Amino acid sequence: MTKGRIIQRGAEAVLYLDSEGSLVKERVKKGYRIPELDETIRRRRSKLEVRLLDKARRSGIDTPCAALTDDHMIKMDYIDGVRVKDALGGMGVREQDATARKIGTMVAALHSSDIVHGDLTTSNMLLKDGKIFLIDFGLGKVSGKVEDQATDLFLLLEALTSTHYGISARVWKNIIKTYVQKYSNAREVMTRFETIERRRRYK
Ligand SMILES: Nc1ncnc2c1ncn2[C@@H]1O[C@H](COP(=O)(O)OP(=O)(O)OP(=O)(O)O)[C@@H](O)[C@H]1O
Ligand SMILES: [Mg+2]
Repeated sequence: MTKGRIIQRGAEAVLYLDSEGSLVKERVKKGYRIPELDETIRRRRSKLEVRLLDKARRSGIDTPCAALTDDHMIKMDYIDGVRVKDALGGMGVREQDATARKIGTMVAALHSSDIVHGDLTTSNMLLKDGKIFLIDFGLGKVSGKVEDQATDLFLLLEALTSTHYGISARVWKNIIKTYVQKYSNAREVMTRFETIERRRRYK
């Protein structure tokens, strides 16, 4: 099988567009890992990614439909959109705030369904037709633990402040406002979030 044209090289995967227009994500060998462990990690993350993409979709979150095609290869819908990372800075304030609320709604739905994403960054969110598609679940897990969910939010805040200079505070405020409105356990998660922030600050 030809895998098609390479469209992206991520940190752990190469992404191709195949002849049918589907996206193929192949987790590649990492030379710095022991070969057996490397195999296990690539297989585990690929299986997990398909499972969580599916679980998230059943929770009402937009994700590409995906299937495992071999141990370290996933075939999924190609989302012909733009990364939130690349789009956010060019938007007007109202559109930025609306996007932030969509992110808040999405994370609320994830956590309500006990899904922790593990890499909530704006490069893993694709905008298409006014919807945000969430991708890259290979570091995720199924967890309803307050600590795990608070850590998920903490990573999101770090990603925002490092990539969206000047607007991250307002965007974050809108995300959290919506998150708190839409997720019943949000207050508890936010309290833990503040503890994590303090821990980091005084380290
Ligand atoms: N289904 C998809 N449709 C369109 N583009 C996609 C899709 N999946 C991934 N991409 C593009 O490829 C990039 C890398 O994909 P992904 O994040 O899944 O791989 P990764 O190796 O984990 O990358 P990174 O380590 O950079 O996060 C995404 O940021 C996105 O631009
Ligand atoms: Mg990614």
